[in-house]
Amino acid sequence: MTTLITGGAGYIGSITSRLIRSTGRAVVVLDTLENGHRKAVGDAPFVQGDIADTELVERVCREHQVDEVVHFAAYKAVGESMENPAKYFQNNVTGSQKLFDALSRVGVNRVVFSSTAGIYGTPEVVPVTEQAEPRCESVYAETKLMIEKTLQWYSRTTNMRHVSLRYFNAAGAATDGTLGEDWRFSQNLIPHVMKAVMGASPALTVFGNDFPTPDGTGVRDYIHVEDLATAHVAALEYLRNNGDSVTCNVGTGFGTSVMEIIHATERVTGKNVPYTVAGRRAGDPAECYADTQRIQQLFGWSPTRSLDDIIASAFAWHSSHPLGHDS
Ligand code: UD1
Repeated sequence: MTTLITGGAGYIGSITSRLIRSTGRAVVVLDTLENGHRKAVGDAPFVQGDIADTELVERVCREHQVDEVVHFAAYKAVGESMENPAKYFQNNVTGSQKLFDALSRVGVNRVVFSSTAGIYGTPEVVPVTEQAEPRCESVYAETKLMIEKTLQWYSRTTNMRHVSLRYFNAAGAATDGTLGEDWRFSQNLIPHVMKAVMGASPALTVFGNDFPTPDGTGVRDYIHVEDLATAHVAALEYLRNNGDSVTCNVGTGFGTSVMEIIHATERVTGKNVPYTVAGRRAGDPAECYADTQRIQQLFGWSPTRSLDDIIASAFAWHSSHPLGHDS
């Protein structure tokens, strides 16, 4: 039997796809390649196409004997989602609903979904638990919450079961240096720190140093992308063992500030990170990090990579791939 991986040519999807294959499972990757890269798929079976193409999804499921899905395919740029909400509702929400409908028709009833801690917005309490009231501050986050809810209704009304994984800040690259994120298309902190330390930008802009945090800069929970990948493998295993539908945080449980990231980068790379301080970015919470008890208890999962591993792998990847997989 085969695991269908939507968005398996993207950053997290490609690293997870490779890990799932290494466990002995067959996979098939479905990706439009609008943002993903063919090279990231490697020699895994690949179909270029859209999750909203129900006929295609049904055919792929039948031809490859798919019995479970990891659903990554989505647009993920927060800023763009506020400028073009229709694009996000259409692709992420409508596309996912069509995917689930096609899966239902062909009898595929186990889904692991790539959700986000973005749905917590500015949490009232940290570490934040899955029970916290969602307070989406972007269309992007709202689309992920809507997909979670769609899956919850499928669970109640059909025999489909799911795990929604709420990622905190995915970071780093594959340890072997062959897969990672394209920094040309990322707005996230670590790719920007890497640009600054390698001289690919004049300096990092630190968005605010007047937050109510120990050093005044924003605190987040950075989780190594390979640890995220192992969480998906654990979630698939849980569903295969008849686990009930559930939503889980995936983070380390520790908060790290922007200044701590800068200092760790300087220590790991032996180079200076030039930076300037600017005002806060709209919508940025002061602190957001995960309560990870649920995923630890249910799946026996915990992260094994350190912040230094994140930085060292990101540095190795970006140094050798300044144009991502086009390098
Ligand atoms: C962002 C998204 C979130 C998404 C997540 C993972 C926003 C508001 N949130 O989270 O929905 O799920 O990415 O893709 O965009 N920072 C700087 N300078 C920079 C970039 C970032 O100081 O050039 C700071 C930020 O203010 C923040 C921290 O670094 O304190 C992390 O930022 P980022 O990597 O963009 O992630 P989030 O904002 O947490």
